[in-house]
This record gives sequence, C-alpha cells and structure tokens, in this order.
Amino acid sequence: MVIVNQQRVPRKRTYLMCSPERFAVEYAINPWMDVTTPVDTALAVKQWDRLRETLVNLGHTVHLLKPQAGLPDMVYAANGAFVVDGIVYGARFRHEQRAAEAAAHRAFYEEQGWRFIAPNETNEGEGDFAYVSEAHGGLVLAGYGFRTDPAAHAEAQEALGRPVISLHLVDPRFYHLDVALAAIDDTNIVYFPGAFSHASQRVLAQLFPDAVVADDTDALAFGLNLVSDGAHVVLNSEATRLAEKLKAAGYTPVPVELAELKKGGGSVKCCIAELRH
Ligand code: ARG
Repeated sequence: MVIVNQQRVPRKRTYLMCSPERFAVEYAINPWMDVTTPVDTALAVKQWDRLRETLVNLGHTVHLLKPQAGLPDMVYAANGAFVVDGIVYGARFRHEQRAAEAAAHRAFYEEQGWRFIAPNETNEGEGDFAYVSEAHGGLVLAGYGFRTDPAAHAEAQEALGRPVISLHLVDPRFYHLDVALAAIDDTNIVYFPGAFSHASQRVLAQLFPDAVVADDTDALAFGLNLVSDGAHVVLNSEATRLAEKLKAAGYTPVPVELAELKKGGGSVKCCIAELRH
C-alpha cells in the first residue's frame, strides 16, 4: 500500500465582504427564504464578524463594502461580480430587489482601480461562477438554470479570456453554483452531484476525476458554500461529514457557525467575494 502524505499549501487571498447590519428577509427569491421567520440581525452580525476574523487570522486580506439601506441581501457579497486575473466581470441581478447591489460593487472596484467590464447579460457573480486557476490552465465553472443566464457564460468567457464550462443546476434548493460546488485548491473541486443535470455530472466527473464528492445532507447544510485557501477550508459547522472527508483528503477544515444567514439562503461563500489579481 502506498501512503501519500498530501501536503496542502495555503495561498494568501484577498476578499470582499459586507456586514449584515441591514440583513433581513423581506422577500423570498429562493426556497430557503421565509418572510415570516424572524431574523436576529445582531446575531447575524456577530456570526459574520467571526467569519471575517477567521479569514484575517488565516492571513488573508478582507476589504469591506458599506451596507446600504433597502438592500437586505447585500451581505451576500459573492454575487456582486466575478474577478479573474485582475479583470472584474460585473453582475446583473435576476431579481429587481437586488439590482442596485451591482452599482455598489462596481463603485468599489472602480475606486480601487480594477479593470471593470459591465455585463449585458443576467449573472450573479461568484454565486454562479467559480475559478480553478491551474485546472487546464485556468478554468471557469459556471452555473445556470435559476439565476445566471447561459448567455452570460459566453459573455464572461469573452470578458475574461478563460474557458467557461456551463453546468446546469436542476434543484431549486441549489439555485446558485456556489451552494453546490467549490474550488478547494488550484486544481480540484468539491461538489454535490445531485444539484446538477446528468450531463453536467458527467462533465464534472470527466474534468475532475479526483474531486471530493459531498452527500445531500452536507449539501443541504450549506457545506459546499465554502471558501478555501488551498489548505484551510472554511465551511459551515453543520457540514460535519464533509469536514471529515476534507480532512481525509489532507485539508484543514475550519468550521464556522452562520445559522442566521442561512435564513436568506446562504452561508460562508455567499458572504465572500474573492479578488483575484
Ligand atoms: N437571498 C439571496 C438571494 O437569493 C441569497 C444569495 C446567496 N448568495 C450566494 N452566493 N449563493 O439572492
């Protein structure tokens, strides 16, 4: 028996987050949202702050967006853009309720001097786009079926000059790609096959034969909605089996509790946009 001791190497990241000071469930645009469920905003802020601290303690840089009145979902900062190689492909939200968030993200990037490309097609940024930087020279994985329009996949490919693989999401509980799949390092991913069409499952199995595969329990606990620096995997504390699988694969799971933000239909990854230079 050959025992391979996988040494996972972390890489410093730059992230963008937005405090849930204005977080509320005032409308329901995904199956997790229920306007009759009370939200404890103070608790949401506390849990979110622990997440931010966790990233900072791991050595990462976290930029902050200012929360705006009337935009209760702004805490889900992943949806505001998709950034690869220093190029920012802007978001265009599916629902009117979130449309104004795109301008807040755009203003942030323009102020910081990033190259910003405004979209014509509906897309929800990193909610539906993931990047695996060393897979086949740099591969974009893109979800469609609920939020992002497939036309935006082609637009992103032209904006970023990276191949975009379109994946069909078929279960409304996994309405964004980032609740069903995540990059865990520069070459590999973790995903829940049941969120995807059979054809898309085959595509994923072909491209990522060594992927970590999650089960429905962990997926429904928002386990896939994670952020990894290549070694430390920050994920929802309820996804315990997934944490074990990641540990067995040589990663270090870093569980965080984000129960309040599940009420809006999101967890770790939804709260974090990665700024890739
Ligand atoms: N309530 C938000 C929506 O439905 C949640 C977004 C979660 N974000 C994510 N990246 N999956 O749009």
